Amino acid sequence: MDAFVFTDDLLVHVDVIDNDHKELYEITNILLSSSAQSGSMDAIVSKLWQYTRDHFRREEELMASKNYNKLNEHKTEHEYLVFKLEQLTGHLMEEGSAGITAEMSTFLTTWLKEHIESYDRQFALSLSA
Ligand SMILES: [Fe+2]
Ligand SMILES: [Fe+2]
Repeated sequence: MDAFVFTDDLLVHVDVIDNDHKELYEITNILLSSSAQSGSMDAIVSKLWQYTRDHFRREEELMASKNYNKLNEHKTEHEYLVFKLEQLTGHLMEEGSAGITAEMSTFLTTWLKEHIESYDRQFALSLSA
């Protein structure tokens, strides 16, 4: 499949956040190009879960330090995304998993992009307002 690429239009121009987003794209790409046949997908799925949680925590800490007024709403969205991510990709951890399904692939290539374009960008814009 085509590479899932981080493009400049996804930049929110807050370096710590942009760097994390690029890394999340990298990890997702590795996951998307992995297959159950090539062995267990545990390691890469775990890495994506862990990095997602770390990134969300970093973002929330930054938001708190800036007294961002939509922090609670943003946190709720992060919690929902972690739940969906783990629910949808958890099967990949199972022995004999069939690999990435179309549903997983669609989710993995949209959730991050849509969150960045709406929620994260809104926060970044509030910093320069
Ligand atoms: Fe983010
Ligand atoms: Fe976020």
